[in-house]
Amino acid sequence: MGMLKLDLTHAGDLVSEQELESLKPQVDSVHYNLHKDNGPENEHTGWLDLPNNYDKEEFEKIKECASKIRSDSEILVLVGVGGSYLGARAAIDALSHSFSHLDKSKRNGPWIIYAGNSMSSTYLSEVMEIIENRDISLNVVSKSGSTTEPALAFRMLRTHMEEKYGERGAAERIYTTTDTNHGALKKLSDRKGYTAFDIPSNIGGRYSVLTAAGLLPIATAGIDIDSMMKGARQAFADYSTPDLFSNDCYLYAAARNVLYKKSKTTEILVNYEPNLHYFGEWWKQLYGESEGKGQNGIFPASVNFTTDLHSIGQYIQDGIRNIFETVLCVETPKKNLNIETDEEDLDGLNFLSDKSLDYINKTAMISAIKAHVDGGTPNLIVEVPALDAASFGSLVYFFEKACAVSGYLFGVNPFDQPGVEKFKNNMFRLLGKPGY
Ligand code: PA5
Repeated sequence: MGMLKLDLTHAGDLVSEQELESLKPQVDSVHYNLHKDNGPENEHTGWLDLPNNYDKEEFEKIKECASKIRSDSEILVLVGVGGSYLGARAAIDALSHSFSHLDKSKRNGPWIIYAGNSMSSTYLSEVMEIIENRDISLNVVSKSGSTTEPALAFRMLRTHMEEKYGERGAAERIYTTTDTNHGALKKLSDRKGYTAFDIPSNIGGRYSVLTAAGLLPIATAGIDIDSMMKGARQAFADYSTPDLFSNDCYLYAAARNVLYKKSKTTEILVNYEPNLHYFGEWWKQLYGESEGKGQNGIFPASVNFTTDLHSIGQYIQDGIRNIFETVLCVETPKKNLNIETDEEDLDGLNFLSDKSLDYINKTAMISAIKAHVDGGTPNLIVEVPALDAASFGSLVYFFEKACAVSGYLFGVNPFDQPGVEKFKNNMFRLLGKPGY
C-alpha cells in the first residue's frame, strides 16, 4: 500500500468504473511511452526516474553548500520565478514553523526570502532594505538563464553584494542553478566563479523541485532532503505499475479526464493546513502550464480551507457547476490542541469539550465535502499521512507523474509552454529589446 491514498468515493456518480475502464488502453499506451527508453518523451522525462537516478555527487555538494550557507548567512535570497522557485517555496512553507520568518528560534536555518518572481519595484526595494545590514547568501535559479524577472533582480542584488562583500567575497556567497549546457546565467556564473548547480536538460522548470533547483534552498532551510528523496522513491515504486486500477496516480489522471468530459473544467486544489498554500501555487503552475493548450485543459485553482469556506466557498457550493475539487487531507497534524471545558460556557462552546482542534478541522472537511458533493461539485481526496519531508517527496512525484499522464490523455504535450512566450514578446517589443 502506498504512502498516499486516493479516495474517489466522493466523485458523486460522475466517475464510474466503466468510464475509467474505457481509458485503460490510452493510459497503458501513455505509460509505455513515458517509460520507454529512447522514446520521444525521453527528452523531457528526466524527472521520471530522478528519485532513483540522481547525481549523488551533486546531492552531497548541495548538502555541503547548504551547511555553509546555514553557518554564514542570516538570510538566503532565493531568486527565481515559476518552476524555478515555487517547488522550493512550497516545501519550505509546508515543512517549516508558520512563524519562522518572525522568530529565529522557530527556524532551523537562515530566513529564506524570495526575489525575482515579480517586477514590483516596491517589493525588490524592500528586499534590499531587509538585507542591507544582514549577512546573506543568494541562490539564483533559472533553467534558461535568461528569464527577465530573476535576471533583473539578480543584477541588482549582485551589485549590492559586490558592494558589501567585494567581488570575491560576493562570489563565495552566490550559488547559481541553471542548465549547465547553455544560457546567459551559465556564462555569467563561469566568468564570476560562482558555485554552480545543474538543472538537467531533460527536466523542465515545473518538474524540477527534486533537482538542485529545489533541493539547495530546501536543505538550507534545514529540511531533510534524504527523507524527501526517499518519499519520492516510494512514490516511484507505488506508481510504477501500468495497471490503472492498481495505480492511484493514473486513476487521479483518468478521473480528472472523465470529469472534464462532463464539463467539470475547473479543478480546485483544497487544503486544510495554511502551510500548504504554496503547495497549491506550485500545483497550479504545474497543471496550468502543462495542460492549458490548444484551447483545452482543466483550469487549476486553489483554496485554503476553512478560511476560504467563508469567501469563495459560496461559489463552490452554488455558482456555475463546472468545478470539481481535489482535497489534500493531512491525516496527522504536526501539532494538536484540546478544547477544554469552561465552567461559565459564555461562548457556548462546551459542546466541543475534550475534542481536539484537528478533529474539528476534519469534521469541517467532511462537512464541506458532503455539502459540495450534494451541490454538484465532485470531490477527489488525496490522503497524506503527515506533513513531513517524505510525504512531500511522495506528493511531488504523485502530482508530477499524474500531470504528465493527464496531459497526454488530453492530447497535449505536457512539457512545453508556448503560450508563455506571447506576453514576453510583446513586452520585449515595447521595451525596445533588439530583435523584437
Ligand atoms: O515551468 C516552467 O518551465 C516555467 O514556469 C519556468 O520555470 C519559468 O518561466 C522560469 O524559467 P527559467 O527557469 O528558465 O528562469
